[in-house]
Amino acid sequence: MKGWLAVYIVLVACVAASDWIDYEDSGTATMTHYDLPEDYIASCGCVGGSTHYPTAALSQMAFGSSTAYGPACGRCFNLTLLNTYTAYPPFFPDETKSVVVKVTDKCPLSQDGWCSGTKDKTNSGGQRLNFDLAYPSDAISDDFFPSNASLYGFTDFGVWNITYEVVTCKDNWAGYDDTSALGAVDYLGPESACCPVEPTGYLDDSCPSYSDHNGIAYVLYIPVIACV
Ligand SMILES: *[C@@H]1O[C@H](CO)[C@@H](O)[C@H](O)[C@H]1NC(C)=O
Ligand SMILES: *[C@@H]1O[C@H](CO)[C@@H](O)[C@H](O)[C@H]1NC(C)=O
Ligand SMILES: *[C@@H]1O[C@H](CO)[C@@H](O)[C@H](O)[C@H]1NC(C)=O
Repeated sequence: MKGWLAVYIVLVACVAASDWIDYEDSGTATMTHYDLPEDYIASCGCVGGSTHYPTAALSQMAFGSSTAYGPACGRCFNLTLLNTYTAYPPFFPDETKSVVVKVTDKCPLSQDGWCSGTKDKTNSGGQRLNFDLAYPSDAISDDFFPSNASLYGFTDFGVWNITYEVVTCKDNWAGYDDTSALGAVDYLGPESACCPVEPTGYLDDSCPSYSDHNGIAYVLYIPVIACV
């Protein structure tokens, strides 16, 4: 209307809590890697000592919270490399490499990247889950990722197609017998740290979704349209 100023704020891609990915106990996923400084306290609020053993961040919509901790915190997964496909020709290594990680961090939801998977949309590797491995790491050998430098001219493919399987941390995660690598950071308090030693997925021994619990939405982008 002439003479009137109307401002419309449009919220786009504001997803509801029920949109977390309810993933199976085993399946396929993508794996990337990221720099996690030793002794760093990541999203779950797990003790810094956890970084001395294999850990990973899980893509946000499977992690189950947009900030702080989520139900994936503390869970252990056996991750096995299958093939790469971001280079041509795709690389299928002869050897099978696996690593058991504890999830201590969240890989933020993005529109495209490897952690963009949602219930309804896969990432560009055709997967909804992405495990972002803390690597390089003293806990994982430097030749963990197979390569063929003479064929490709580089050794780091950046992203792998993998299988994942939920496993118990006890007997499977390398840090399980080291008490200084287990649990949450006390001084962060119960509202900021949740890192169960052996989460099973049940409410009494696993982390809730911090963002659901505190009414924090997750929004990819908020275009603001001003109409005069
Ligand atoms: C990843 O591996 C699965 C299982 O072998 C296969 O079905 C899928 O096509 C692979 N994806 C890519 C992008 O290579
Ligand atoms: C690297 O690729 C070449 C060409 O395909 C092949 O002959 C060689 O066996 C490969 N080496 C490894 C370690 O995969
Ligand atoms: C991880 O998966 C690989 C490949 O399936 C398997 O050989 C290995 O025994 C598994 N490790 C654990 C601890 O489950």
